[in-house]
Amino acid sequence: MKKKVIIDCDPGIDDSLALILALNSPEIEVIGITTVSGNVKSDQGAKNALKVLKLMNREAIPVYIGEEFPLIRELITAQDTHGEDGLGETNYAEANVKIHYGGVDFILENAKKGDLSIIALGPLTNLAKAIEKDELSFNMINEIVSMGGAFKSHGNCSQVAEFNYWVDPHGVKEIFYKSKVPFSMVCLDVTREIVLTPNLIELIKQIGGDVANFIVDVTRFYVDFHWKQEKTLGCVINDPLAVAYFIDRSICEGFTSYLDIVTDGIAIGQTLVDIGEFYKKEHNGLVLTKVNSDKFMKMFLERIFPDNKEDIEIVLNNPRYGVNNFR
Ligand code: BDR
Ligand code: CA
Repeated sequence: MKKKVIIDCDPGIDDSLALILALNSPEIEVIGITTVSGNVKSDQGAKNALKVLKLMNREAIPVYIGEEFPLIRELITAQDTHGEDGLGETNYAEANVKIHYGGVDFILENAKKGDLSIIALGPLTNLAKAIEKDELSFNMINEIVSMGGAFKSHGNCSQVAEFNYWVDPHGVKEIFYKSKVPFSMVCLDVTREIVLTPNLIELIKQIGGDVANFIVDVTRFYVDFHWKQEKTLGCVINDPLAVAYFIDRSICEGFTSYLDIVTDGIAIGQTLVDIGEFYKKEHNGLVLTKVNSDKFMKMFLERIFPDNKEDIEIVLNNPRYGVNNFR
C-alpha cells in the first residue's frame, strides 16, 4: 500500500532533487506539495515545484502556497546558496498550471482524512500554523519526517544552527512542544554525508535526457557555492535523504530524545538534543545520527535512472569514482 504524503518544502535545489526522488518512488503517493518561505519565498517555491512537476509529467499533483513569513522572525532567504530563482538561476520555463493558496488548510484537510504523512524539507512554519489552528486534526497525522537541525555537527547558518530551523525557530518550538505526531529529525549530522560529487554529476550528464540535464543544470550554482563556502567539491544534497529515509528506515539510525530549540540570542536556531536526560522530559523526536550514504546514493540514482543501473553500478563500485571519493 502506498503511503499518502504531503511534501512541505522550499524549493530550493536539493528540494527539487527530493521531489524527483519522491515522484519516482512507488511506495509514496504524493497527494500534494505545500511551499513555505525558506530558500526562497513560498510563492517562488511553488513556481519551482511546478517546474519539477512539469519535468516529471506529474502536473496533476496540486501545489499549495503556504506561509510567507516565519512566525516571529524576519524572513531570511538563502538565495546566495540556491540562486535568485531558487533553482540555481537556470530559469526553466514555468508550468502553465494553476497554483493554489492555503497550504496550511490543505495540510489540515488531509490530516482529518487520516493516513497522512508529512515530509518537511523547509522551515516548519506551515506545520506550526497548522497545529496552532487545529491541534486535534494536526495530531491525526501519522508521521513527520523533517530535514533540519543538528546534533553534533556544526551548523550551516551559524556555528550551531541549521538553516531550516534557524529561519523559523519559533515554528520548530511549536511542533516540539505541542505535536503528538511521531517526529524524525534528519539533521546535518547525516545529511552532510550525502555529497553529489563531481564524478556523480558527470555520470548523470553521461546518462543524459531531460531529468539528467535538469539535475546537472540546477546543481551547477550549488556546486560553486559549496566550493566557495567550504571547499567541498560537489554539493551536499540534504533534502533527498529525508525522502529516502521515509521510504527505507535502514538508511539512517538514531535514538529518541527530548528535543528543544534556542529561539533568541547568539545560538538562535540551535537544536538541543537532551541525550543526558537533564530535563527529564518525555522524548518528542527521533534524531538520526548515522547514515549509509552508499545505500542512499544507489537508491537515489537507480530510482531516477532505472534504465541505467549497469552504468550506475560501474561508477558506484569503483573506489576511484564512488560516493565518497572527495571526502
Ligand atoms: C536545508 O536548508 C536548505 O537550504 C536546504 O534546502 C535544506 O532543506 C539544509 O540546511
Ligand atoms: Ca529545503
